[in-house]
Amino acid sequence: MPRKKIVAGNWKMNLDRAKARELAGAVAARSGEAAGVELVLCPPALYLDAVGAALAAAKSNVGLGGQNMHDKASGAFTGEVAPPMLLDLGCTYVILGHSERRTLFGETDAIVNAKTKAALAAGLTPIVCVGETLEEREGGRTDAVVTTQVRGSLAGLSPADLEKVVIAYEPVWAIGTGKVATPQQAQEVHALIRSLLGSLASSEVAGKIRIQYGGSVKPDNAADLASQPDIDGALVGGASLKADDFLGIAKAFR
Ligand code: 13P
Repeated sequence: MPRKKIVAGNWKMNLDRAKARELAGAVAARSGEAAGVELVLCPPALYLDAVGAALAAAKSNVGLGGQNMHDKASGAFTGEVAPPMLLDLGCTYVILGHSERRTLFGETDAIVNAKTKAALAAGLTPIVCVGETLEEREGGRTDAVVTTQVRGSLAGLSPADLEKVVIAYEPVWAIGTGKVATPQQAQEVHALIRSLLGSLASSEVAGKIRIQYGGSVKPDNAADLASQPDIDGALVGGASLKADDFLGIAKAFR
């Protein structure tokens, strides 16, 4: 069975509640334009409820996801969001280990691993992010860095759990810079990740796992990325804040 393409919008810390509702409504109303592609919106945590309600009101099958979560189900963790809270608001996905979480908030592979396990245990599908910095790429360390991140973030997962995970390859130098990886650069790393997943589980399991590309994806570069055999969708930042652009990208993955 071919892997179902998945395009997710990471809204990061943007918009206000009214604009979040409006954007969700617009994407939901036009989701048919990208029929066959799974769409997911990841608004700021405070707007998950409003966005979930807008998606439900439009009777769309656009999914809802968190941008981060804690690995514990409850407790004295001021300011944090627990996995059951995301579920409670209708989330089915959660982005974990985004490079902004890793670099600005000190998330290590061990932390991402604990969160990934917690998400799976709660019944959420984790979108686990990996990717090298410009310095690492220029130093010829891309493969080693991505390998360490994938192994560390997914350590101890059973093949059955691995199969459920979505991986997002997001080269840090391409995030928010307008400097997208070439389709060949992205494909190379996606193929590396898939072979790594094969060694962690089996090639059959690896063949089912969806690997998104993220980093300056726009409607005009999405088709070339989508044409690559191991690129199964996109994790979109800036361009996901406009319904036209987000849907334009999603359409390229049909
Ligand atoms: P941009 O699409 O804005 O480069 O952001 C990518 C990203 O970080 C998605 O998670």
